[in-house]
Amino acid sequence: MARVIITGGRRLRGQVRVAGRKNSVVALIPATLLAEGPSHIENLPAIADVAVFAEILRHMGIGVRQDRESMSIDPSGLGPGVAPPQELVQRLRASYYLLGVLLAKYGRAEVALPGGCDIGLRPIDQHLKGFRALGAEAAIEHGVVKVWAPHGLTGAQIYLDVVSVGATINIMLAATLAEGTTTIENVAKEPHIVDIADYLNSCGAKIQGAGTDVIRIRGVKSLTGCVHAVIPDEIEAATFMIAAAATGGDVLIENVIPKHLDPITAKLVEAGAEVTQNGDSVRVTMARQRPRAVNVKTLPYPGFPTDAQQPMTVLLSTAEGTSYVTESIWEGRFKHVDELKRMGTSIRVEGRTAIVEGVPRLMGAPVRATDLRAGAALVIAGLMAEGQTEISGVEHVDRGYERLADKFRGLGAKIVRVKD
Ligand code: EPZ
Repeated sequence: MARVIITGGRRLRGQVRVAGRKNSVVALIPATLLAEGPSHIENLPAIADVAVFAEILRHMGIGVRQDRESMSIDPSGLGPGVAPPQELVQRLRASYYLLGVLLAKYGRAEVALPGGCDIGLRPIDQHLKGFRALGAEAAIEHGVVKVWAPHGLTGAQIYLDVVSVGATINIMLAATLAEGTTTIENVAKEPHIVDIADYLNSCGAKIQGAGTDVIRIRGVKSLTGCVHAVIPDEIEAATFMIAAAATGGDVLIENVIPKHLDPITAKLVEAGAEVTQNGDSVRVTMARQRPRAVNVKTLPYPGFPTDAQQPMTVLLSTAEGTSYVTESIWEGRFKHVDELKRMGTSIRVEGRTAIVEGVPRLMGAPVRATDLRAGAALVIAGLMAEGQTEISGVEHVDRGYERLADKFRGLGAKIVRVKD
């Protein structure tokens, strides 16, 4: 177990570079198994989920070579009937992409139900709906998802009942090698959907429409490996933007795609920050003593991202006035509120909405990270608070942020990481 100890009240200043996007790379890694030959992924973030996925592939007999910012994956060692190790699969959500990949390549897959942040029920019914539409059978037995297609996969018309990032990607992966054309409607439009489609098309797939409401996939016989650079992580960028505003700082965040940050930028400007976009960086300054209260509702892209909701709630906890934060994606994504209360916030949760009455300042306290983005939110709270904050459970944060304490220290924060 590890903790971070923060002495708050310092304005963040300087520049910080954003890493590759977690939610893209955890789909790209399994996607490389669709190819006949090796792929090389660049701009890899140094996060725990990547390390776990590399471990899963090695257990499956796949050649993985990793250096600081890239990974080469050679799927030639893979064969039918290889199941990923349950213990590792349950440590991250994205392991379920192995279902779409192994079903497409070998006509069957058995993968334990995935893990991931405890932020709600996290069903996979839409994934299975898509696989069935393509001609597969699906069942969940003793905590293992089993999918099989005795007659292979055939292109289909699929309408998602819920806008789901995971289902969109998983069905796209399965359809890439199917016989004929698949149309998926009501899909997620997150930038990482486009990133995966770009990678697959570079390997010879025929995917159109990623980033819009309808994705069309013309199945191909096989894919070759290729080289692909992961797009930047807009949630890591959002975390630093919010932290800059929350500490009254002045921070230049580099290696971003400003368009992907539009909802964050809009809300921070509404709250009184100044955000200037310049090529592949954004600069955030906050001259106000306290932010203005703003209302936030999380929505699928291009709405305000649910993964930035918890950090944004922390910023609003010291706003002048009352903010309403509505979490429309995950029913269990307010666990950070109980921890924030120890730091003097005045927040009450009613159903899907947190009512955030701004207080003049936060006070440092011992708190516990319950999930990845809650942990990032508590780090921001510690940076804002008067006095010392000690955060336990930071291994949650390590899943999605590379060297977060070091990066904040580079911006002038007084933050150290200690091993228990
Ligand atoms: C991905 O989760 C991300 N994780 C999440 O980020 C992110 O919060 C989420 O997308 C939304 O953007 C990864 O990419 C690894 P969904 P995913 O399927 O794919 C419902 C983080 O902090 N749903 O888009 O699991 C579901 O209950 C993590 O980086 C079904 O009903 O999310 C939710 O209400 C946390 N049936 C909504 O759809 C299904 O079959 C969106 O879920 C699938 C989803």
